[in-house]
Amino acid sequence: MIRILVRDRQGNDRTVEAEPGLSLMEAIRENGLDELIALCGGCCSCATCHVYVRSPDLGALPPLSGDENDLLESSDHRQSASRLSCQLTLSAELDGLAVEIAPED
Ligand code: FES
Repeated sequence: MIRILVRDRQGNDRTVEAEPGLSLMEAIRENGLDELIALCGGCCSCATCHVYVRSPDLGALPPLSGDENDLLESSDHRQSASRLSCQLTLSAELDGLAVEIAPED
């Protein structure tokens, strides 16, 4: 199991566990954090799965695709640590990743 530390919009931290191969979005939602809406279901077309990567693992993540970058550009809350959680596949290398759910656009 991979453990991810997730901070919700109220500032509460919670550790969630997930199997490798799931997306970060799926791991967050399957652990009951419904404020991450993920409207498009992971098709990279809504940006409602926006998170900030809080741990220094940002460089270890796969690079932004053009579509992910374009969608994040549409957010008023984009930061340098912004990613779309549906575009991040969990693997052992990401065990201990810390993220924060971005404000709703
Ligand atoms: S769930 Fe829609 S872009 Fe990630």
